[in-house]
Amino acid sequence: MMKTIDDVAVEGQRVLVRADLNVPLDGDRIADDGRIRASLPTLATLISRGARVIVCSHLGRPGGRPDLKYSLAPVAARLAGLLGQEVDFPGDIVGPRARSAIAALRPGGLVMLENLRFDEAETSKDDMVRGYFADRLAAPVDLYVADGFGAMHRKHASVYDVPLRCVSAAGYLVQAEVVALRQLTAEIQRPYVVVLGGAKVADKFDAFGDLISKADRILVGGAMAFPFLAARGLKTGTSLLEAAQVDAATRYLEQAAPGQIELPSDLVVATEVAADAPRRVVAADAIPADQMGLDIGPESAARFAAAIGTAGTIFWNGPMGVFELAPYAAGTRAVAQAMTDSDVFTVVGGGDTGAAIRALGFAGDAFGHVSTGGGASLEFIQGKTLPGLAALET
Ligand code: 3PG
Ligand code: MG
Repeated sequence: MMKTIDDVAVEGQRVLVRADLNVPLDGDRIADDGRIRASLPTLATLISRGARVIVCSHLGRPGGRPDLKYSLAPVAARLAGLLGQEVDFPGDIVGPRARSAIAALRPGGLVMLENLRFDEAETSKDDMVRGYFADRLAAPVDLYVADGFGAMHRKHASVYDVPLRCVSAAGYLVQAEVVALRQLTAEIQRPYVVVLGGAKVADKFDAFGDLISKADRILVGGAMAFPFLAARGLKTGTSLLEAAQVDAATRYLEQAAPGQIELPSDLVVATEVAADAPRRVVAADAIPADQMGLDIGPESAARFAAAIGTAGTIFWNGPMGVFELAPYAAGTRAVAQAMTDSDVFTVVGGGDTGAAIRALGFAGDAFGHVSTGGGASLEFIQGKTLPGLAALET
């Protein structure tokens, strides 16, 4: 078992916690604070043990330069509210303001650094560039705590390079995620049904190769469905679609057993992503040229729910549609409902998917495990080595 914060002395120590506080925003409002809440057990424990806590995270994809749209300031404010204590937010990552805030930290105090991705070194592919940034993050720190499970599949400076330079331990969130998700890498109850959706298609598309060999059925919704529909020769209108993925989808469909990959047979379409846009349900082979699919249709939702109902194990990542807008939430709701109706081991993964189930009023404990990681949980269940976990083990 990995070393956790229970195995290290933290009193008086400067402890850098890499959390994943990448929450969905609606303007500058936090649309769902699930990831902040998920980081509380570790942060509250470190504080109560008298650590000097420095918490860091990314937020969104600002592209390596400061962009106040992606400032962690609202997250710092929400964290302060949830912890019931002041969170010092110097608005800086490794610069002089952060340094002096860290120097001024008292035992039990907490500083939050600004969005790590405001510095392009955080996500650099160049080991030296990341390493230099990691040196600066690690310099004022006695101990590193990995608790940002949702970002542990990223070989980023704060995830991978800092723990190589510091005494490191896992936080409670990472520990709980690993324990729960391991159940999907060992012997699993079949049929094993995987439901995939969401908008970050490029990130997750590679998973199909492996899932075809592991899962009995793969139900595909959200923007993930469009490359497959296109591969079947269907017209996808103005739906989100990366042409480069159509070839890969064609190969996956050939590789899969007949019926193993299930696609939507109907969709809710509209001319734009708007709650008040005129919309209708069309068959998957009849998407109008000027319209986009924004949810799976009712027939598909019923088929997916039926497949989930016969599963022995279920893993779900990625909403079925634009659930944030009520007219396109039914497919996501149907999948969530079918999972909570099931009494087998169910796992829901991802920042957006977790936000979706909460927004639609489902209780987290109605599922076997709600993972804070989408891409991370997907890589974990494929048996891949997550860079953030690998760095903890060295
Ligand atoms: C997520 O939301 O999946 C994690 O926070 C990682 O974010 P990323 O996909 O932008 O690296
Ligand atoms: Mg995500």
